[in-house]
Amino acid sequence: MTARPVIAIDGPGAAGKGTLAQRIAAALGLPYLDTGMLYRAVGRRVLDAGGDPADPVAAEGAARMLCADDLNRPDLRGPEADAAAAAVAAIRGVRTALLDFQRNFGMQTGAVLDGRDIGTVIFPNAPVKLYVTANLKQRAHRRWLELKARGVTADPAVVAAELLARDTRDAPNMRRADDAVEIDTSTLDAEAVFRKAMAVISQRLGLPRS
Ligand code: DC
Repeated sequence: MTARPVIAIDGPGAAGKGTLAQRIAAALGLPYLDTGMLYRAVGRRVLDAGGDPADPVAAEGAARMLCADDLNRPDLRGPEADAAAAAVAAIRGVRTALLDFQRNFGMQTGAVLDGRDIGTVIFPNAPVKLYVTANLKQRAHRRWLELKARGVTADPAVVAAELLARDTRDAPNMRRADDAVEIDTSTLDAEAVFRKAMAVISQRLGLPRS
C-alpha cells in the first residue's frame, strides 16, 4: 500500500461522507479529519470575538489562529454554527489560511479527509478520491433523522429547503475531481456504501481484496 495514503472524500451535505470516512479510517488505521469542522470552528472564533463571520478581515484572522483544540468545542453544530461556517467558507483568504492545516494533517501519516474540495484543491494528487452524493429527498430525510435523534423537531420540507440553499452556497467550492469515483448513496445503506468504497480503495492502493 502507498506509504501514507490520503483518501479524499467530497460531496454535498448529508450524503453520507462523514459516516463513510470514519469507517474507512477505522478500517485502515488512518486518522480522520472532518474539514467542515475547521470552517465551523473559524466561524465560532469570529462570533466569540463579537465579529461578523462574513467580514474577511475578522474571518481570515480567526482562520490563522485556528488550533486543533478548537475542533473539540461542543458548539460547532446547530443553525448559528452552520451559518457562520458557510459565511467564512465563502472567503478566499480563509480557505487559503486553512490549506496548511489540512495538508499537514494528511501528509504526516496519511489520512482520510472529508469536505468539499479535498480532491480538487487540498490533495489534488491523492491516490484515492471518492465523490459521495445522494438525491435531495434522501439527504433531507437523513438530516431530518439526525435532528430527531438530537431531540430537534423539524419540518421535513424546511430541512430540504435548507439543504438546497446550502448546496447553492457551497457550489463555488464543491466540484467532483475528474479522477474521483462517484458513489450515489441514495438507495444504499451504510454497509453497502462502505463495501463499494473499500473496493475502490483496494484497487487504487493495490490492497489485497478480502
Ligand atoms: O460539511 P459541513 O456542513 O460541516 O461544512 C460546514 C461548511 O463549511 C459548509 O458551508 C461547507 C463548508 N466547507 C467547505 O467549504 N469546504 C470544506 N472542505 C468543508 C466544508
